[in-house]
Amino acid sequence: MTTAASLIPAGADLEELADRASTCTACDLYADATQTVFGAGPRAAPLMLVGEQPGDQEDRQGRPFVGPAGTVLARALADAGIDPDRSYLTNVVKHFKWRPAGKRRLHQKPNAEQVRACRPWLDAEIERVAPEVVVCLGATAAQALLGPGFKVTQQRGRFLEWDREPLVLATVHPSSILRAGDDQARRAQHASFVADLKVAAGALS
Ligand code: URA
Ligand code: SF4
Repeated sequence: MTTAASLIPAGADLEELADRASTCTACDLYADATQTVFGAGPRAAPLMLVGEQPGDQEDRQGRPFVGPAGTVLARALADAGIDPDRSYLTNVVKHFKWRPAGKRRLHQKPNAEQVRACRPWLDAEIERVAPEVVVCLGATAAQALLGPGFKVTQQRGRFLEWDREPLVLATVHPSSILRAGDDQARRAQHASFVADLKVAAGALS
């Protein structure tokens, strides 16, 4: 199994990691994407938010959460009283996976092999940033970090056991709020998302 592990020099800082990741070919996803989208934010951010993978806009711009899901996330962070300048944003998988649908590029879920291949980048980010709290956004991030059986619906919004230093909790992915059936559902889902983020915020020193 190829993973990105061999690409990560011991002692590399975040800038060097991002530079190395920019030429990663440890799984097949680099081939159809524009660029690697590495995490972004202050190097000692107390809060790290982990999504699934870059989307169409992120792929074009090279930064995480700059598309529609990022807009939902930014609003929820603001409503939870979280300073975006204290948040490091990243993803489990660093290249956009998509299939064509006419002129659009439709997001595709990364498979287990791709998640495993990319994982060393995320592990290195967690180690270097050393946040106080890690928030998994959605099932892909939660299952990658907390185990394949993890159920976001049942275990969201509270701190969980794991084998690392930062506190960890899981919540929904902001794109799930974009898919809400109507305004009332969207408001309710946004409120629950904000409530989960407030739990994370409450643990920050
Ligand atoms: N969705 C994600 O999971 N991550 C991004 O960076 C953008 C959309
Ligand atoms: Fe490397 Fe991750 Fe991109 Fe795959 S998705 S090529 S492992 S950076």
